[in-house]
Amino acid sequence: MIAPSVALGLVALARAVVASNQTIDELYFYGMSPPVYPTPNGSGIGKWATAYSKAKALVGQMTLDEKVNLTAGVSVSNGCSGNIPGIARLGFPGMCLSDAGNGLRNTDYVNAYASGISVGASWNRELAFDRGWYMGREFKTKGVNIALGPVVGPLGRVAEGGRNWEGFANDPYLCGALAYETVTAMQSAGVATSVKHFIAYEQETDRNPSGDVASVSSNLDDRTMHELYMWPFQDTVHAGATNIMCSYNRINGSHACQNSKTINGLLKEENGFQGFVVTDWGGQHSGVASALAGLDMAMPNSDFFWGANLTAAVQNGTVPESRVTDMVTRIIASWYQLHQDVDFPEPGIGMPSSLLEDHTVVNARNKAAAETLYRGAVEGHVLVKNTNNALPLSNDAALLSLFGYAATAQTEQGPLANVSFSFGSGGIAVQNYTMITGGGSGANSPAYISTPFDAITNACIDKGCSLYWDFESAEPSADPDSSACLVFVNAYATEGFNRPNLHDDYTDAIILSVAATCNNTIVVFQNAGVRLVDTFVDHENITAIVFSHLPGQDSGRALAALLWGEENFSGKLPYSVAKNETDYGVTLAPSEGEGAFVDWPQSNFTEGLYIDYRLFDKSDITPRYEFGFGLSYTTFEFRNLSLAASTTASTAEYPTGAVAEGGQTDLWDLLYQVTATVINTGLVDGAEVAQLYIGIPNAPVKQLRGFAKPQLMAGESAVVNFALTRRDLSIWNINAQKWQLQSGTYNIYVGSSSSDLPLSLTFSL
Ligand code: NOJ
Repeated sequence: MIAPSVALGLVALARAVVASNQTIDELYFYGMSPPVYPTPNGSGIGKWATAYSKAKALVGQMTLDEKVNLTAGVSVSNGCSGNIPGIARLGFPGMCLSDAGNGLRNTDYVNAYASGISVGASWNRELAFDRGWYMGREFKTKGVNIALGPVVGPLGRVAEGGRNWEGFANDPYLCGALAYETVTAMQSAGVATSVKHFIAYEQETDRNPSGDVASVSSNLDDRTMHELYMWPFQDTVHAGATNIMCSYNRINGSHACQNSKTINGLLKEENGFQGFVVTDWGGQHSGVASALAGLDMAMPNSDFFWGANLTAAVQNGTVPESRVTDMVTRIIASWYQLHQDVDFPEPGIGMPSSLLEDHTVVNARNKAAAETLYRGAVEGHVLVKNTNNALPLSNDAALLSLFGYAATAQTEQGPLANVSFSFGSGGIAVQNYTMITGGGSGANSPAYISTPFDAITNACIDKGCSLYWDFESAEPSADPDSSACLVFVNAYATEGFNRPNLHDDYTDAIILSVAATCNNTIVVFQNAGVRLVDTFVDHENITAIVFSHLPGQDSGRALAALLWGEENFSGKLPYSVAKNETDYGVTLAPSEGEGAFVDWPQSNFTEGLYIDYRLFDKSDITPRYEFGFGLSYTTFEFRNLSLAASTTASTAEYPTGAVAEGGQTDLWDLLYQVTATVINTGLVDGAEVAQLYIGIPNAPVKQLRGFAKPQLMAGESAVVNFALTRRDLSIWNINAQKWQLQSGTYNIYVGSSSSDLPLSLTFSL
């Protein structure tokens, strides 16, 4: 609900901006969510034909009451985050929905996978797929029909955002590519994915209405919506996502779960979405309005809005029955689409603490997933500083001194094997012990936790080294005879709060105190987002800095393997690390209600397309560590950039294809193929993330549009391919309401990070 005066004010403001031509194209449609009605019916296009014909046959037998019952959750104490009731007479068993995108939570005998931010740091599509596949199997075993993930919103606009770690990256292309793999894999394991949170959900502050204060409105223009925030959702629709979760915030003044422009317009019309839209829990704020705007399912229940009210709305003609029929057809078609009618356990059966299967079955499933759990932990680590050959540690290192509050496991698990963390006083994450995940609904349940301390202890059993440790002192003193001093600290984040800072004095003091006497101080952060390092980065005794991100249950053993060089670092930052907070400008912190809008908080995305490296490029700010940066124990060279144009695909200005899942079909036409050679010029094996950026005319100077990660033995080389689609080369034309190829010169850059791009070429359209 938005106060009419405020809504009119926003529209008037936007019109004034457009009318007086005071602003650039990107601001056209700023703050506008024009009405889009009616909801396009799910029609069974593409791969959905069979599922829709079965769904229509089943839904055709339902009474209005039965249909309405399927549009909202019911309370069942089975541990699922939400439940849809069954219809026994029609053999429909109902559905269980549960969190989340990094592994199942609130149950046992499951695994804690590396979080989204770690998968983002891996830049590894195969890993994203494998992780999705093994996670999906666990959800299915427990009878979870719908996994509440992956997260592609937030996209990381706000550096202090509390949930950026649940998603993959602060770049739509990288985020979308990894989400595509995740959705494809989880759904091929038979579990529906609820891609969330739709859309422009970029801060925790005021995410929900409270008292007299409305939820924050993310105000943005149509081009930014398409090129940044919609982009990864589009990828997941293209992958066949069966479910999307609308978010808590408002968008251009209208609640996300009743915004007809975003649900009816962007998702169902423009992107041909065939699945259903579910609310975030408690995110529904109207009955008729949300039904007509395209919402299909309310969670966790129908209280206040749907249920009997929806039946009444149909009976009194305010909501056409065809809309309710479409809601249910979309829900049932998704169930058929993933073959849950023939091959699925009883909904939620394994969620209460119980061992349903033989021990051998559980253990075999875990062993099959073990390599992916481990690789997720390893590849999410990013080495950003390494001087004096600090790393890898020598096998001859005699004394390792260990400090910091993040090296050991918490002393007790929560119920159902959950781990939970909390901020220490002043927002310092001192209580966190080893941080394998962030907090809130994206936290998952580990089968075990391999801690840095345990893994380093095991390594010293093998190698004969001695350990000294002090995990308590706020100002520890290190033995100057230490071969190396390792400091384990973290940067916590959780759903429900934004981070209070991007660095904290308590943690920095521990690091500086160790560095005062130890000339080989190695800092290891477990970090749920950007962590600034400028308070100590240039200290001569600080020889190495590692961002571990959130590695999941294999945290310690992955780190130990990397420290001793049994594994090579191959992760790259999925965000930029600035030198100072102020470098992030308006994208540093969440917006708060103020002035005339004190009860109607507004978050104005006036930076448009310019977040993260796009912002730093535009403002000519040199970050401390740029997007895409990460060191290795070997070195790589890039050579032989070449470009081949498709001989068949059209380069007409606009696409002409019919709308299928993910938009007009020819958006995915391959227009150019770029190849480059990557050579491992060092002495050890390693993997390099080759990155392709494009400067599209009338767009930011460079944007990621390709990546590949070849594993190369020392001296080996490989040719990497980047496939550039029509969408990759287009910008969103707000007047045509289509993706548009630009006429002019396109610049292509290839290299190892967003700032280290030794190869380039141009072509013109
Ligand atoms: C609220 C969170 O925003 C969402 O991500 C989660 O899936 C639901 N709660 C259900 O727990």
